[in-house]
Order: sequence, then structure tokens, then C-alpha cells
Amino acid sequence: MLEKSGASEAGPVLILAPTGRDAETARILLERDGIDCQVCPKLQALHSAIRSDTGAVLIADEAFTGADLSSLSKKLAVQPPWSDLPFVVLTRSGAAGRRVVAELHLPAALGNVMFLERPLNAVSLTSAIRTALRARRRQQQVRDYMAESAASAEVLRQLNETLEARVAERTEALRASEAALTQSQKMEAVGRLTGGIAHDFNNLLTAVVGNLELLQLRLADDERALTLAGAAFQAAMRGAKLTTQLLAFSRTQKLALRAIDVNAVLRGTDELLARTVGPLIELRLLADPAVRPAIADANQLELALLNLAINARDAMPEGGRLTITTGRQVIAPDQRGDGKRDISPGRYIVVSVADTGAGMPPEVLARAMEPFFTTKRIGQGTGLGLSQVYGIVRQSGGDVRIESSRGHGTTVRILLPEARRAARPDSSMKIDPASVPGVEQGPLVSVLVIDDDEDVRHIFVAGLEAYGYRVHEAADGPVALHMLERGITVDVAVVDFAMPAINGAALAQAARRLRPGLPIVFASGYADTAAFEAVPGATILRKPFQIAELADAVRRILPISASLNCS
Ligand SMILES: Nc1ncnc2c1ncn2[C@@H]1O[C@H](COP(=O)(O)OP(=O)(O)OP(=O)(O)O)[C@@H](O)[C@H]1O
Ligand SMILES: [Mg+2]
Repeated sequence: MLEKSGASEAGPVLILAPTGRDAETARILLERDGIDCQVCPKLQALHSAIRSDTGAVLIADEAFTGADLSSLSKKLAVQPPWSDLPFVVLTRSGAAGRRVVAELHLPAALGNVMFLERPLNAVSLTSAIRTALRARRRQQQVRDYMAESAASAEVLRQLNETLEARVAERTEALRASEAALTQSQKMEAVGRLTGGIAHDFNNLLTAVVGNLELLQLRLADDERALTLAGAAFQAAMRGAKLTTQLLAFSRTQKLALRAIDVNAVLRGTDELLARTVGPLIELRLLADPAVRPAIADANQLELALLNLAINARDAMPEGGRLTITTGRQVIAPDQRGDGKRDISPGRYIVVSVADTGAGMPPEVLARAMEPFFTTKRIGQGTGLGLSQVYGIVRQSGGDVRIESSRGHGTTVRILLPEARRAARPDSSMKIDPASVPGVEQGPLVSVLVIDDDEDVRHIFVAGLEAYGYRVHEAADGPVALHMLERGITVDVAVVDFAMPAINGAALAQAARRLRPGLPIVFASGYADTAAFEAVPGATILRKPFQIAELADAVRRILPISASLNCS
């Protein structure tokens, strides 16, 4: 069986026996044995029937008489390397047959020739043809194998050709993700460093600002000295603004995060932004009415927009267009912030600020959000604008993406987490103490000030006394708790957050256990924001602040706590 199929797979046998019944007889014999046959009437027909899938050729020698074999020879000579088509030549018997064979030089003309002497014998014919077909099948297998290797070689060649490009592509992807990692680690480290420095500076500036305020009170009738103190005060306030930006970048400021309507924030800042960018720049607001509320601090978002508008204005000195758009974006679980920074998968509200200005070359773009990175002249930029935006947005659980290229403008996209709740109108909860009857402040109110920094504490004490409060002071938590246990009168406690023995939040909780509902004002610039949440109703004052603000906070917290106590 195997033999049969192997033979027929090699292809049909071409038969050329122009005289007598030989062709017909051979065809019947072979077909009876399962071998495909094709009878050719003339040499010319045989010549054109020969193809690569021809199995073998059976020719009676009389077909060669007077024939010109040269064109058949030529065709056979240019067979592909694997091919050597087998010929079985039927010869006349005896000396006549041998003479014909010798005269024709058939092996030279046809190549692979086998002779079979007549009379035709069924067994020897089929076995000769089978042998020829088996050899032919082998040749065809070599052909297939060669074709396969050529195909594999081609695949390999193409792989090789693209190898360099693929290695380069992969290397670039690795390099980019490594650079992104380094960048985010750098931002974290710089954030921690600036947070620490800003905290210490806040304390220094609180002392400076407070002392200057007290000095101003005492210098009431010395015009010149007042001017000097005023200038020093202004400089200190500029320093205070810087530390606020640094704290924002280090994500250690207290944010009033709530569900806000970003479109409403945009509408609210519209005028301010238009004034900021000036008449040469066309301001376009494209608010998507379908955006859901975002989780953010409305005031800080306004500040971020303002920073971005100022940057855009600086990038378009000749004028241009500033387009602020709101929209939505979903970050899929496998799509972590364009591979740049970690951002939780989920729904985000996007506020995009696009200008048609100068744009940034790659080396500026790479560093734009670093604190103190600026390309502006001294006095024109401190390099804290984008750092502040970055800090505010990251602290809100979002991300900032910048796309920019030189000459093609800049688009800064702020992603803020989408809120599940409806937006709450901001600031409607504030109570103006002046409007609440029956609340007294001044000598009747006792304030306990707890701060481990002696300079700062003295300023607070002196300042509050200057505003007419009765003030007790403690250098740390344990001392304060001891005073409360002893039963001193305290209406409000002013508590520093970062203190060695026990931090402000823990102290406030302990104090509340001794004095339930005790109004607390946290004086802090550096804070674990979550820690404050544990102290309901507390006010947070960001350092540095003016004594007037402290006095005001103390005054304001009384009615709020009174209303807390009542409920
Ligand atoms: N919209 C913009 N177009 C072109 N370049 C920009 C844009 N925004 C920021 N930059 C580049 O990024 C740098 C850093 O910006 P950033 O806002 O942090 O600081 P600044 O504007 O230089 O100073 P500051 O904001 O503190 O006044 C800029 O100096 C500027 O080179
Ligand atoms: Mg700026």
C-alpha cells in the first residue's frame, strides 16, 4: 500500500510509444497497479508535458527514430538541482535493440535512463516504473526540503535584518521606564528634602513675621522705622510664599479635599485668568458639561490654573491662544500613567491647559516640574510654579502630564480622581463669629499654646496677649496634659503639629479626653494630613501666618465649637 501511494505521489508517468499497441498496453498494466499515466502521441507532446511533478517517462525506442532530441535534452539539462527525471526506455530485443541504444547515446541526451527489453512483461514493467517513481519521489522530497530550508533561511534573514531595530526598540523602552523610575524617585527624594527644609523655614519665618508685627505695634509713631519694619515684613512674606510652594510640592500641606465641580472652578477663575494673560492672548474655556465632580481642593486648583496661565503667558510674549478644556479619562489597570508614574486605575477628570507658545525642548520638559528649575531670568521665575501644581495634584490622588515640543506649544493635563458624590458648594459652612451674638473674646478667653520651638511659642504668647487673650504656654504635650489635669482654665488650645514627645494630633485627642469638645487650632506647616482628620472641628493654620490670623482663628473657633457642643 505504502509503496503504491509513494509511487503515485511522485506524479503521472508519461508514456510515448507511437507505434503498435505498446502505449495502450503499458497504460493498462500500470493503471491496474494504481499508477497514474498520461499517453503522449508524439515527442513534441511529451516535451511539453514534462513538468516538475512528472513522475517518470516511459518511451519506446522507435520514438527516437529520426527524431531531433536536442530541444528535449536542453530542457532536461536545465532541470533544477534536485531534479533528475527518470526515463525507462523500451528497446527492441536482441542485437537490434542494443544497436539503437548505442547509436542514440541516450544516457547523454536524457540523463537518468533505464532500459527495458521487449517483449513487455507486466512484472518487469511495473517494477521498473515503480523503481523510477520511488527515485523521483525522493528527488521531490529533496525539493520540498530545500524549499523549506530556503523559507526558514528567509525568515531568519528577515529576523536578522530587524534584530538591530528590535533590540534598539526594546532598549529604548527599558531606558524610558528606567528614566521614569529614576525621575519619580528623584521627585520623591527632593519632595522629602524640601518638605523638611520648608518646615524649618516656616518656624523661622513665623518668628520673624511675628516679631516684626510686634515691632510695628511698638513703633507706631516712628514713621521711618515703621517703613523699614514694613519692608522686612514684606520680604518675610515673600519667603513665606516660597515655603508654601515648597510645602505644596512636598505634598505636606493640608488640602481641603472634597467633591468639587471643576467647571464651576473654571468659571470662577475666568476673569482672573483673562486678566493674568492679558489682552494679547485669546482665552478659551471649553467646559464639558458632562464631567462629574472631581476630588480636589478648589482653592488649590485655582492656584494651579493660575500658575499654568502665567507659564503660558510667559511662553507667548507676542500673544497667542490659551485653551482650557475639561473632560474625562479612564485609566485601565494595565495602563499606569503612560508608564510614567504610578496612578491608580479608575476614572479621572482632566483639566487641560494648552497654549500656542514657544514650547519646551526635551531637556527642559524632562525637568520642568523639578523645584527651582527655571529657564527664566533671575527675578522672573523661581521655578516653583509647576512643582506646586505637581504637588497639589499628586496630593489629591491625581497626576500631571505635560506634552510640549519647541515651537509647537505646550499642553499641561491635570488628572483629578472622579468623585462618587455630588459636588458640595464650597465655604457655605463657615460661620462669621461676629454675626453670632453672645460670643465674647478678649480677657475672658484663655488660650493654651503648646509649641516646642521656643521662639515661635514666645511670639504666639506675646501676640495673643497683645490681642487681649489670657495665655498659658507649654513646651510639649506631656506638660500641657499635666496643666489640663491640674484644672487650669482653657477655652482654646493652639497646638503645634510636629513635636518630639507626642505629636499635635495625638495631644489634641488626649486633651479632648480630659476636656471634651475643647476647641483646637493646629499651627502647622508640615503635617500628616490624615492625622488631623482624627480631631473633628479643629482649625488648621498653615505656618507661617500672621499673629492677626492666629487671633482671628482663635476668635472664630469659639462659635463653631459652641455649636459642636450644642449638637
Ligand atoms: N507653558 C509653557 N511653555 C513653555 N515652557 C514652559 C511652560 N511652562 C513651564 N515651562 C518651562 O518650565 C520651567 C519651569 O516652570 P515653573 O512654572 O516651574 O517655573 P517658572 O515659571 O520658571 O517660575 P515660577 O513659576 O516659580 O515663577 C519654566 O522656566 C519654563 O522653561
Ligand atoms: Mg511658572
